[in-house]
Amino acid sequence: MPHDEIIPILDFGSQYAQLIARRVREKGVYSELVRPDIPFADLKKLNPKGLILSGGPSSVYEPNAPRCDPKIFDLAVPILGICYGMQLGAQILGGQVKPAKAREYGRAKLHISSTDPLVRGLPEDTTVWMSHGDQVHELPADFIPLATTPNCPYAAARHKSRPFYGVQFHPEVTHTPRGEQIFQNFLYEICHCAGSWTMENFIDQTVRRVREQVGNAKVICGLSGGVDSSVVAALLHKAIADQLVCIFVDNGLLRKNEKELVETTFRDHFHINLRTNDASSQFLAALKGVTDPQQKRKIIGREFIEAFKREATSIQGAQFLAQGTLYPDVIESGHGYAGTAANIKLHHNVGGLPAELGFELVEPLRELFKDEVRRVGAVLGLPENIVWRHPFPGPGLAVRILGDITPERLRVLRDADEIVLEELVANHLYRKTAQVFAVLLPIATVGVMGDARSYDSVIAIRAVESQDFMTADWARIPFDVLAIMSNRIINEVRGINRVVYDISSKPPATIEWE
Ligand code: XMP
Repeated sequence: MPHDEIIPILDFGSQYAQLIARRVREKGVYSELVRPDIPFADLKKLNPKGLILSGGPSSVYEPNAPRCDPKIFDLAVPILGICYGMQLGAQILGGQVKPAKAREYGRAKLHISSTDPLVRGLPEDTTVWMSHGDQVHELPADFIPLATTPNCPYAAARHKSRPFYGVQFHPEVTHTPRGEQIFQNFLYEICHCAGSWTMENFIDQTVRRVREQVGNAKVICGLSGGVDSSVVAALLHKAIADQLVCIFVDNGLLRKNEKELVETTFRDHFHINLRTNDASSQFLAALKGVTDPQQKRKIIGREFIEAFKREATSIQGAQFLAQGTLYPDVIESGHGYAGTAANIKLHHNVGGLPAELGFELVEPLRELFKDEVRRVGAVLGLPENIVWRHPFPGPGLAVRILGDITPERLRVLRDADEIVLEELVANHLYRKTAQVFAVLLPIATVGVMGDARSYDSVIAIRAVESQDFMTADWARIPFDVLAIMSNRIINEVRGINRVVYDISSKPPATIEWE
């Protein structure tokens, strides 16, 4: 969607490129990644207030190093080069870049030697995060050094007459504690942004855009109870009210009270037209006797499409399907800069609905990062227990019941999982953890209950901390809390006599057990 204020980031392959965009947006200015070789005309069309050149793994003096069109320096908007971006900018403007004497990696002491707007408000000495093998070695006379580190004479510099600034360190990472001040200065002191990127503005613009896109047609939205689909539903309801029809498929593999939470929130509170499709008996019949995890996933995917299709085709006048595609999904499939939307992957949050359904897509969240989705949800009035919900896999409890899925084993896992979550919330650990749940193991072990021998099942508790779910560490839940969870599960859940705690990180383990 067009933005009245945008800071494009030319992404030279930095592992931190998304983080730069998030930092800029946190300061209230819309920012997105573009390919480094974006044609000058396309960049100009975006009407940027400023540009950021990201870091990257290459060396600017290598023959195949990614470059940008040098004309961008004639755009007359401020440019901030970070690490590789600084080196490239300095080289284009006549500087010399060479391998540094020592590869610098980690924290460094930055000394500021200037009152330039870029470094205004920073203490004279501060810590920054360095990660580079090259550095700007010699700057022509028309550059001014702004800050140094013991190993780096031009840790920050600017061009005398052009609005080009460079920092050798990474202001976007948390290891540069005052990095946000650099962004604040660049955006407001140098680019003179107004700061119009707020979730309220986003909602207003999206409401208008969705109305234009769908006209009088109906839009179907698959609700899963997760954050993304919930925010899509609330946002579309604000835009098109009764033209929105939500479908919630009960696959019989949900957690305790999950269906009720979705129904009370969306039907009773938001008055959204919600259709619950109870397909649990079909799902459970199809899963009978299946123990292989991939087989379970396949069956569940297939049944979901069947159930969704049945419900969706019964809705008259439905022309659009809403999906909760987020910005990282869009980036993953190549940068969607102005004019080239073709190579973008469609991410199917609702279980891989096939194109044969014939709907046009509505993807109102495709510009947002996850934290922004949560903020939009909060502004729209979604309750905290939905806005801050841990992710839950599409195949549900099926991949947390190792072995056979039976109604009895579902009951055991649901009861145990409810206790784990209750204690997590009661001990104020829900927001501090990324995902926490119970797993039912396919073994029985011996125990004593009263005076009798028992031979019952084992529950494993899985709790992880993670930023992106690609890597995760096991959460250090206090022993006292684990003790309460374990006691309650063994005493209250019939069929369990032992609880174990999973202390594996990802990799090499995964978060789910199947
Ligand atoms: P793993 O187990 O691969 O999980 O470390 C990473 C994240 O993905 C979730 N997950 C799934 N989500 N369908 C989903 O929609 C699936 O088949 C699936 N498998 C894992 C998992 O809960 C975690 O958040």
